Amino acid sequence: MPMSTWKVHVQADGREVDARPGETLFDALRRLDTSLIMRGCRNGGCGVCKLRIAAGQVETGPSSEAVLPPAERAQGMVLACKATPRSDVAVELLPRPVNPFLP
Ligand code: FES
Repeated sequence: MPMSTWKVHVQADGREVDARPGETLFDALRRLDTSLIMRGCRNGGCGVCKLRIAAGQVETGPSSEAVLPPAERAQGMVLACKATPRSDVAVELLPRPVNPFLP
């Protein structure tokens, strides 16, 4: 079955981008605007790309509980670098954390 293209809606300002088949939320949002989401490890290990799914379904992919605790997961938080849309989604961006990769 071919994978679909889904719309990713940014709640804060109403902008939208089409996520390409199999594309992560991280890559889709960065394509819309690189300032929307911080570039971290891109492998589920640092948590700087965390956001909340306000509506829609995503495949969340593997992530450690240290980075994404079950309580946050239960609130709809995902790691954008590991999450792939499975429907049109609306995302709520979180306040940007301090970049742990900078001194
Ligand atoms: S960029 Fe590090 S967890 Fe997503």
